[in-house]
Amino acid sequence: MRRRFWMAACLMSLGMRLPAAEREVTFSRDVAPILYQHCVSCHHPNDIAPMSLLTYKEARPWAAAIKEAVLLRKMPPWKADPHYGKWSNDPSLSAAEIETVRAWADGGKLEGDPKEMPKAPVFVDGWKIGRPDVVVSIPEHKLEAKGPDEYSYIVVPTNFTEDRWVVAAELRPGNRKIVHHAHVFVVEEDQPAKAGGAKDPAAEYGRWLRIRQGTLSFIRPDAPVIDDGCAIDDNGAFPGSKQSDLGSLISSYLPGREPDVYPAGTARLIRAGAKLNFQIHYSRATGKTETDATSVGLIFAKEPPKQIARRIDLSNHMFLIPAGEPNQEVTECHTFRKDMYITSLTPHMHLRGKAMRMEVTYPDGRKETLLNVPHYDFNWQITYRAAKPIFIPKGTRLKIIAHFDNSPNNPMNPDPTRVVRWGAASETEMMDGWVEYVDTAPEPLLTSAAQ
Ligand code: HEC
Repeated sequence: MRRRFWMAACLMSLGMRLPAAEREVTFSRDVAPILYQHCVSCHHPNDIAPMSLLTYKEARPWAAAIKEAVLLRKMPPWKADPHYGKWSNDPSLSAAEIETVRAWADGGKLEGDPKEMPKAPVFVDGWKIGRPDVVVSIPEHKLEAKGPDEYSYIVVPTNFTEDRWVVAAELRPGNRKIVHHAHVFVVEEDQPAKAGGAKDPAAEYGRWLRIRQGTLSFIRPDAPVIDDGCAIDDNGAFPGSKQSDLGSLISSYLPGREPDVYPAGTARLIRAGAKLNFQIHYSRATGKTETDATSVGLIFAKEPPKQIARRIDLSNHMFLIPAGEPNQEVTECHTFRKDMYITSLTPHMHLRGKAMRMEVTYPDGRKETLLNVPHYDFNWQITYRAAKPIFIPKGTRLKIIAHFDNSPNNPMNPDPTRVVRWGAASETEMMDGWVEYVDTAPEPLLTSAAQ
């Protein structure tokens, strides 16, 4: 009897408190600011998300789905383990913000006073970087209705008559239905002559290890297997391949990836006469003949940069993932030969990518995990931008540890019966860590250190 009374009292007090709190939460005052800050960069018309969440009318029907997505932390997409590193582009909602969204969706889903709506963000011509100084586009590209996925390499002149310093770059697909992902690389005039040095036997061997099918390249199936690329530095790289620290990649389009904006005071160099090589993965998702004109928008530095924004791509090309293997480990190591500051890290694998960790051993023997992505997702390839550039003293060794799931339990796995090696197609694999860096501390860090 007594017990039942207490239960009833509890339920009553709960019942009285919760709805009162929920009555308070309105879209205009409480929810819209959260969506504007964390969601609408993708959830606005004609962007990558399936629906706009800019207005009450648009968001209201999605209330239950929005609640679920934020409670499970599926949205906004973010894969970094919060125990390691601080990232300037971490879009995660705070516990209080999640509670606000939950209370709104579970309560009356009220609009509130439209006058309390925050100022709607402006999306200039769809460019997230603002209006570009120059837009370079590929000529219209036709994709036939049938056939396997296509990797196109399309080289377009920049027609730059002087060297240009780029502070921001954004690659935009012309036709989002077929452009799966894309990268754009800078090709300098003299590169073909320099490339690999025809007489370097290691480079020759590295080239022999690669076979081409149409526009795709793969490793020979009978190539030696190196899963532990850390036995010696850069052991999993193609023999003779030189790590360029100018980094020719200037921008990428991948789902969930923001444009490339370099740290204050730094810029990427594109020399006069350079060409841009667009590497575009087209998927024939629509079953119809389609056309595309993908382009990259560039913003130039208003004044000469203090230093160059650099990038190095560390890869293991030589691994082998057995059929059905649920947790294949592949590593790659590289020792940095000068002091530097890491500004971003990007794990890159394909459909069997399961997890990736990047850790450093400093010259004094201290170890630190810079980034841990315990549940890698090919659909969300995210660049993790350091909140404060990470100082890497000369002699620091970076170890990249990747795990692949080639078992039938991986829902993304196109074929668990297949032995998988390196290749450019999504059904083959890659194991890359992309590292952006600068040689000395960029400006904001110098300022904060001086304070
Ligand atoms: C980086 C871009 C991006 C951001 C930021 C983002 N979304 Fe999404 N969202 C997507 C894409 C793309 C999809 C569809 C593909 C998918 O479900 O993975 C999606 C799907 C969803 C869905 C599921 C729709 C369905 O079909 O059920 C919901 C709900 C959602 N987002 C809510 C949110 C909310 C709420 C936020 C902010 C807290 C947010 N999203 C932030 C890109 C984004």
